[in-house]
Amino acid sequence: MDNYEPAMSFDEDAAENYDADPDVSQRANTSATVAFLEQLAGGGPALELAIGTGRVALPLAARGIRVDGIDFSPAMVAKLRAKPGGDQIAVTMGNFADVPVQGTYRLIYVVFNTLFNLLTQDDQVRCFENVATHLTDDGAFVVEAFVPTYLTRLRSDQYVDAEAIAVNEVRLDVGRHDPVTQRLEESHVVLSREGVRVYPIVARYAWPSELDLMARIAGLRLKERWAGWNRELFTSASTNHISVYGH
Ligand SMILES: C[S@@+](CC[C@H](N)C(=O)[O-])C[C@H]1O[C@@H](n2cnc3c(N)ncnc32)[C@H](O)[C@@H]1O
Repeated sequence: MDNYEPAMSFDEDAAENYDADPDVSQRANTSATVAFLEQLAGGGPALELAIGTGRVALPLAARGIRVDGIDFSPAMVAKLRAKPGGDQIAVTMGNFADVPVQGTYRLIYVVFNTLFNLLTQDDQVRCFENVATHLTDDGAFVVEAFVPTYLTRLRSDQYVDAEAIAVNEVRLDVGRHDPVTQRLEESHVVLSREGVRVYPIVARYAWPSELDLMARIAGLRLKERWAGWNRELFTSASTNHISVYGH
């Protein structure tokens, strides 16, 4: 996607709509996410890569765990700050691939496919390497990501899905896949009498096995892999995974 910058996907408009998006509010299973992370945090401290509006960090902090965050979007972090407890969280503004913080953490996590917002294999490996240097010896690095099974339903490496059809509005999800860079260039397109709006996003996906190799490059090992936050069994039919890495 020419001229695309990842920050474009997390501007004021995106931040305004983020928490109410059905993908976030209905499908993300935030309470199970928080319960899983609380167990692994062992009392903390915890670090969320790409903390966003605090969907996960705020309820985790409310359970008595110190949660720090990293994000590059002022608009998303402003939403976090506006919520109860949002002024108590230390957020470093920067690229989470650099893990630009001091000290070590019992738990570091990146959820909701956000690792794939790093658009090159190099950046993803760098992220694992930097995480490893900030993880305590008994610490856990948790990654939630999709398994790229959708590739099998693409026709000529592209798709158009009718996401919602209402009387006044149609929402389409349009995607194009590049098998060499492992990138999915996607836009949500909203058509209405008011005009056309587009919400572009690019992801660089990796299979679980590639993530495991990234972890090994960084000196980490896979400790657990689940299909969901309630520790559902991970199988060849799973479309998501929760992977836990450690030293
Ligand atoms: C889909 S939201 C997820 C927010 C939160 N983790 C959650 O689960 O609700 C992705 C977040 O990643 C941030 N982000 C994406 N790429 C980033 C990068 N390279 N460095 C820092 N933040 C990044 C965006 O600003 C946004 O807040």
